[in-house]
Amino acid sequence: NILSPENCDIEILDNGRTINDFIDNKIEELGSKDSEQPFYVANLDDMVKKHLRWLTTLPRVKPFYALKCNSSPAVLRTMIALGTGFDCASKGEIQLALSLGVAPDKIIYAHTTKARSHIKYARTHGVNMMTFDSEDELVKISFCHPTARLVLRIAVDDTCSVIRLSSKFGARLGTVNKLLGRARELDLDVIGVSFHAGSGCTESSAFKQAIADARHVFDIANKLGFQMTLLDIGGGFTGRNDFKVTFEEVSEVINGALDEYFPSDSEVEIIAEPGRYYVESSFTLAANIIAKRVILDDTEHSDIVENSRDRTMMYYLNDGLYGSLSPIVDEPSYYKFEPYCHRVNIDPVYQSIIWGPTCDSTDKLTDDYWLPELHVGDWLLIDNSGAYTVSLCTEYCEIKCCIYLTELCQPVPLNCVVYIGKAMYY
Ligand SMILES: Cc1ncc(COP(=O)(O)O)c(C=O)c1O
Repeated sequence: NILSPENCDIEILDNGRTINDFIDNKIEELGSKDSEQPFYVANLDDMVKKHLRWLTTLPRVKPFYALKCNSSPAVLRTMIALGTGFDCASKGEIQLALSLGVAPDKIIYAHTTKARSHIKYARTHGVNMMTFDSEDELVKISFCHPTARLVLRIAVDDTCSVIRLSSKFGARLGTVNKLLGRARELDLDVIGVSFHAGSGCTESSAFKQAIADARHVFDIANKLGFQMTLLDIGGGFTGRNDFKVTFEEVSEVINGALDEYFPSDSEVEIIAEPGRYYVESSFTLAANIIAKRVILDDTEHSDIVENSRDRTMMYYLNDGLYGSLSPIVDEPSYYKFEPYCHRVNIDPVYQSIIWGPTCDSTDKLTDDYWLPELHVGDWLLIDNSGAYTVSLCTEYCEIKCCIYLTELCQPVPLNCVVYIGKAMYY
C-alpha cells in the first residue's frame, strides 16, 4: 500500500522493460511535447538492497534515514516500508514524516540549533528525542519542551572526511561535564550521545575514536545520575560503490568498537543517521544539452581536419549549480561528475567544458572532461546523483523525478516507475 502507484505516482516496469527503455521512452515523450525538461530516474530496488546490506553489515545499528538528503515521497515511502526511523532537521521535515504516517517515536530531531517554534511543534506532536550541544540550546529546550529526551552531540575528529561538520556542531569533550551539569540543574533528561564523523570518511579509525569518546561521555553522564540508553553514530556512510573506503571496511571498525565500548549486554540502543548511503546510487539524472559552442585552437595547424586536440567543446546543460547539481560544484572531491551519453557514441573524443544554464560563470560542472562530440538536443546521464540534489534545488529548478522498482528485490514484489517533477527555468 505504502508504495502503491496511486500513492507514489509509481509507473511499473513490466514485460521485461529496463531502465534504459524507460529513459528512452521518457525522452521520446518529452520530445513529442517539444520539451527538454531534465528529470531523475530512481531505482527503489537499489534502496532495498542497500537496506539488506545495512542489516547484515551493521546488525546492531538501527538506521534513522536523514530526510534532508532526499525527501522525494517515493523515497520516504520506501524507507517507511523498510521500517527505518527518521532523522529530521526541521519542523518541515517532521511535518512531512508525520504526514506520511511515521510514528513520532521513530523520529530523532537531529539538529543542535533549532528554532523555538520548531521545538514547540515537535513537543505538540510527540517528537521527544532531540540533540543539543550547547547551554543556550538547553535553556531553549527547557522552555519549549521540558520533557524532551536529549542526546548530547559531541564534536569528533573529522579531519579525514571530505565533508566536515564538527567545526559547526558538537560539544568539545572538555565542556561535556559542565553541559551535563547544566542539564541537571534545568531538570532535563539526557539519554544519550551522538556524533557525525563527517561524510566521505577515508579513515575508519575516526569512528573508533568517536565511539571511545562517546563511552567517556556516557561514563561522565552516568556518574551525574543520567540513565544513558542511546548511542547515535550519525551519518556519512558512502552510498557509492567506487568510494575509496567501502561501507564494509568502515562497518568492520564500527562493529569492533561497539563490541569493545558498548557490548551487547550494556543494553544501549545503537542508532545511525544515514542519508547518502541509501539514495546516492539509486538516482540517475538525465539533462539536456540546450546549447553548444566549439572553441577552435588557432595555434595548432594540423593536416587532420577532425583533430580532437584542436578544439574544445562547450556544452550548456539545463541543470547546474542553481538547479540540482550544487553538490557537484561545491564538493568536487566527493562527488564525481562523470556524465555519459544517452545514446552510444564513438570516437573521437574532445575535451569538453560543461556549464549549467544560468548567466553565472561559476555555474560550471566540469572543465576537463573528454566526450564524443555531442549536439544540441542530446541528453547526458549522470549516475550516483541521489544525495543532496533534488532536496537542494532552488526555486528556479523544476526537476522531474521518475522512480522505479523492478521485481529483482524481494520482499518488495513490485516493478514500477515513479515520475515526479518539474523543469528548470532560468
Ligand atoms: C546531523 C546529521 N545527521 C545525518 C546527516 C546525513 O549525512 P550523510 O548524508 O552523509 O549520511 C547529516 C548531513 O549533513 C547531518 O548533519
